[in-house]
Amino acid sequence: MSKVVLKNVVKQFGSVKAVDTLSIEIQDQEFAVLVGSSGCGKTTALRMIAGLETATSGDIFIDDVRVNDLPPRDRDIAMVFQNYALYPHMNVRENMGFGLKIQKLSGSEINARVQEAADILGINELLDRKPKELSGGQRQRVAVGRAIVRKPKVFLFDEPLSNLDAKLRVAMRAEISKLHRRLGATIIYVTHDQVEAMTMADRIFIMSKGVLQQHGSPMEVYAQPANRFVAGFIGSPAMNFVEATLKAEDSDIFITGNGFCLKAPLAFQPALQAHLGRPVVFGIRPEDIALSDDTSTDPGNILTARADVVETLGSEIFIHLACGDDTLVARLPVPDRPVEVGQTLRLGLNLARSHVFDKDSSNTIV
Ligand SMILES: Nc1ncnc2c1ncn2[C@@H]1O[C@H](COP(=O)(O)OP(=O)(O)OP(=O)(O)O)[C@@H](O)[C@H]1O
Ligand SMILES: [Mg+2]
Repeated sequence: MSKVVLKNVVKQFGSVKAVDTLSIEIQDQEFAVLVGSSGCGKTTALRMIAGLETATSGDIFIDDVRVNDLPPRDRDIAMVFQNYALYPHMNVRENMGFGLKIQKLSGSEINARVQEAADILGINELLDRKPKELSGGQRQRVAVGRAIVRKPKVFLFDEPLSNLDAKLRVAMRAEISKLHRRLGATIIYVTHDQVEAMTMADRIFIMSKGVLQQHGSPMEVYAQPANRFVAGFIGSPAMNFVEATLKAEDSDIFITGNGFCLKAPLAFQPALQAHLGRPVVFGIRPEDIALSDDTSTDPGNILTARADVVETLGSEIFIHLACGDDTLVARLPVPDRPVEVGQTLRLGLNLARSHVFDKDSSNTIV
């Protein structure tokens, strides 16, 4: 059992509240990802769990034991840092075994554990090299190996892939996921990269300015974002946001803006009723916009816009659209006929998957 619980944890650095009343429960063997933009308090949260930073207030529990006053070495946690923090004068074997030596394990036990970790990570041939003789990806593996040999209750990862090039990052992402399954470990992984969060997490915890915004499975936070921040943070290209107002006409509700008038799906009506006439923000993901040549489509689902920029990615295209004063991005399969810049397009929106946010609070209405 390795459960990690934070209850109302606050970290104040002078006048900066780096972590603001954070309450999270991470289950045994869960892969939890803390994600948010730079400075939102991710590292601070992780360092408090590790015991490298004391909480200003609140409680931290590991397996139901309050650990606020336990030094790091007594928390049975291993942390992998962004810069790997390897000892330059030690070879890989010594780097990996150093923590165990401090714990006064026998030489044979240390060797066995280092060997086991090297086998798991495929770094046997690197054991006698010094860190400066390793590539970024190899160093990263050694840093993970140093954590594995300790057989900790909980692994903490602080942006371990951010120093790697894009291709290696994708490969290491998959490796860390496999490692998680193989070790059956509880992992708390910090990143600012929402793709890493989406692809690796059992559950994502999204933070902004020290405050937890939402948590849930990757698909939950993608499909049902709690507020505009989460909606804009998760997904790439990001969700389009357009200011609008809600108007009732006959038995329908229309989402109207500068250059469009969309008919809200019936299922949205109960939630939208209370916001009639008020400023809202309409949100639609780039993949929920499609070219629509079919003139029989309900005009309430149609947007007319000018193609301003067309980006061809090979497998798909992104079109930057000008619609009234607003700009939107559409993500489409490569069309049969190329889309020209300046062309006026008729676009069908998958409104069932769109969102409406309260403009003032930024909370999701629907
Ligand atoms: N030792 C410190 N003293 C004062 N302020 C600090 C200290 N450590 C962090 N902060 C501040 O606390 C806030 C949160 O920092 P933190 O390092 O936790 O962010 P982060 O989410 O890890 O960001 P990044 O993605 O850039 O690593 C920031 O405003 C930062 O400037
Ligand atoms: Mg950080």
